[in-house]
Amino acid sequence: MAVQMAPSILSADFARLADEAAAVAPVADWLHVDVMDNHFVPNLTIGLPVVESLLKHTGLPLDCHLMITEPDQWAPAYAEAGARNVTVHAEALQSPVRTLRLIRAAGARAGLGINPATAVEPYEDLLAEIDMLLLMTVEPGFGGQSFLDLVLPKLRRARALVQRHGGSVWLQVDGGVSEDTIERCAEAGADVFVAGSAVYGADDPAAAVQALREQAQRATARSAWHG
Ligand code: DX5
Ligand code: ZN
Repeated sequence: MAVQMAPSILSADFARLADEAAAVAPVADWLHVDVMDNHFVPNLTIGLPVVESLLKHTGLPLDCHLMITEPDQWAPAYAEAGARNVTVHAEALQSPVRTLRLIRAAGARAGLGINPATAVEPYEDLLAEIDMLLLMTVEPGFGGQSFLDLVLPKLRRARALVQRHGGSVWLQVDGGVSEDTIERCAEAGADVFVAGSAVYGADDPAAAVQALREQAQRATARSAWHG
């Protein structure tokens, strides 16, 4: 599986979202969209109407990351709207199997997100129900936080679990991913990389995506899990 880059528009200019998406469109694989409800996390961002508008203005597939208390209620609508991936958090799901299946039934990829202090092992039996596992590498809620190295052992265990189940589930990291930390993530087993401030805080967001991708590719090539 090739390295995939998902710039997060959380660090973009929210008044110019179409332009900010266009700035990375030639080099990104996904546009990562952080949906926050001020309950699951202490921050409020954007919801379905903005996602629907964004879909009209970018050709990039949207990777919607729902940090909300009622993912069971809201996730299928993001998939129906046209998001290519919808990630829901294990800590908030009431009916994980039903909701993940509804996401897939609506034509999207289904992602399962877990916070830094949430163990991955209890979700092994759900691997067949998901297309991507998201390991948060900061406490969710804000961009620009410091990467939590304490997640790296879990990332290695998650990679081993995924490989044991055929290796088709993507392993995404989100939070504090930068030129200082992306190689550690790739070596530990991540293959999809979200980066907000490291991309939109740079003078040239597209060049930042390319540089991060090259770093991740080099680190993946020398990693023990790859190949
Ligand atoms: C945080 C969000 C992230 C955020 C990452 O809760 O889920 O997607 O945009 O931002 P950086 O890359 O700046 O840590
Ligand atoms: Zn995110």
